[in-house]
Amino acid sequence: MDDATHATADSRVNQRLVEPCAFVIFGAGGDLTKRLLLPALYNLAAQNLLPEGFAIVGMARRAMSDEQFHSDMQEALRTFATRPLEPGLSEPFLARLSFVRGDFDDPAAYGRLRDRLDELAHRFSAGNNAIFYLATPPNVFATVAHQLGAAGLARESASGWRRLVVEKPFGTDLPSARVLNAELLKSFSERQIFRIDHYLGKETVQNIMVLRFGNGLFEPLWSREQIDHVQITVAEAIGVGTRGKFYDHVGALRDMVPNHLFQLLALTAMEPPIRFDADAVRGEKLKVIKAISPLKLDDCIADVVRGQYGAARIDGKELPAYRDSPGVDPDSWTETYVAMRLQIDNWRWAGVPFYLRTGKSLAARKTEIAIKFKQAPFAMFRDSPVDRLAQNFLVLRIQPDEGVALQFNAKIPGPTIRIDGVRMDFKYRDHFDAAPSTGYETLLYDCMLGDATLFQSADDIEAGWKVVQPILDAWEQDRERCPPAAYRAGTHGPREADDLLARDGREWRPIVPGQRDG
Ligand code: BG6
Repeated sequence: MDDATHATADSRVNQRLVEPCAFVIFGAGGDLTKRLLLPALYNLAAQNLLPEGFAIVGMARRAMSDEQFHSDMQEALRTFATRPLEPGLSEPFLARLSFVRGDFDDPAAYGRLRDRLDELAHRFSAGNNAIFYLATPPNVFATVAHQLGAAGLARESASGWRRLVVEKPFGTDLPSARVLNAELLKSFSERQIFRIDHYLGKETVQNIMVLRFGNGLFEPLWSREQIDHVQITVAEAIGVGTRGKFYDHVGALRDMVPNHLFQLLALTAMEPPIRFDADAVRGEKLKVIKAISPLKLDDCIADVVRGQYGAARIDGKELPAYRDSPGVDPDSWTETYVAMRLQIDNWRWAGVPFYLRTGKSLAARKTEIAIKFKQAPFAMFRDSPVDRLAQNFLVLRIQPDEGVALQFNAKIPGPTIRIDGVRMDFKYRDHFDAAPSTGYETLLYDCMLGDATLFQSADDIEAGWKVVQPILDAWEQDRERCPPAAYRAGTHGPREADDLLARDGREWRPIVPGQRDG
């Protein structure tokens, strides 16, 4: 990238100034705060993106003095910050922290919070603006929102805005997501609510839009005329580890599909928004999720595969079975893998299958979107029939090894026409020096700016659940017809997922190149 291009990007950042505000974290003693929120705020401070008038308030049930909170958070930063702690930066940053104790359903706690915010408005010139970040277990989201409303803390005025940030999981199915939306909307307006999907904080996910709409090259090819199918993979190498108790009630479908995978699908398949702003981008994403063909009971059985990993021994290492993980029911049917075939019913995509898969304990960690273009239509080259030509894939590698690759055919040098598949490969790390980050920086910064482009609306959330609800129902109602298919830990998933594509004459891209099974 040349200097002129850098300059354009920098001046855009400089124009976006955050107003003074207080950042209130509910559940401040938890893992999310320590591992991600504090280090992300610290990175923003290091990049000079926090306002002069800024304060952080932690709220939790446990009694703790400001000093103790301060030292806990200092320790958290020492452990989890993605950049070295420099006293010149970390000390003034930590000095902005204070703590309010309180049970989340106790009105008195919110009175104390209100007093603290008044005090900080003067002490740190944090003004009347406040962000309330729910880093709590999901079962108290509605309670905190309600109490904030009752204490008058959700009310905006000419002198201050109020925003509520809600973490995932947002509901456990369509009815519970609707109830939660309705509860939050009793105290906050939709414009005040920022629902997080951390995938939208990933640079490579945001780059899907830049790749598609910042280049004239791809859009003319981006349709049923040229594209054969799309594969979206979110593979994780780790198993459930110590999260078994939580995960056994959730499973791969709820945990990953209506949120992370559908965000990737929506960004890949949406129409070009008329502007890069919240209404336009979210409006287009919503339309495409709503255009997913509803699954009927038989589709849920034929076009959806659920799997569960069993034990394996790979390279002398024992990988435990899901059912042997702490907190997991030894007879559990919870899926640790899900694959599905979806259709999008609109002019651009009619007839182009979208295959989605995600799972734990797979052969490698890999998130990618692979767009398979149609094969050349006839065998012009005598010695290379069409079905032996390499497949044209455009692969957006979301993580790790972030980049974009295009696979195409080239002539092998020599007097005869022989053809081989080659790859043009762009790697982020070869071009950009990104400061190590937690992935939350952009989301927190945008929220402080009031820019909801990278957050989910109530409609987005409900549309996602609406697509997967028939699958949840089918698994519940027709249990015997869809037991989880077994796969060995450390492999590419169950055979049934291969059959899903094989039926259509297609195959998954390997999770580890050159390896089909572990
Ligand atoms: C979370 C899920 O939302 O995303 C986890 O609850 C999963 O189960 C994680 O491991 C994956 O995120 P990432 O950023 O590591 O791909």
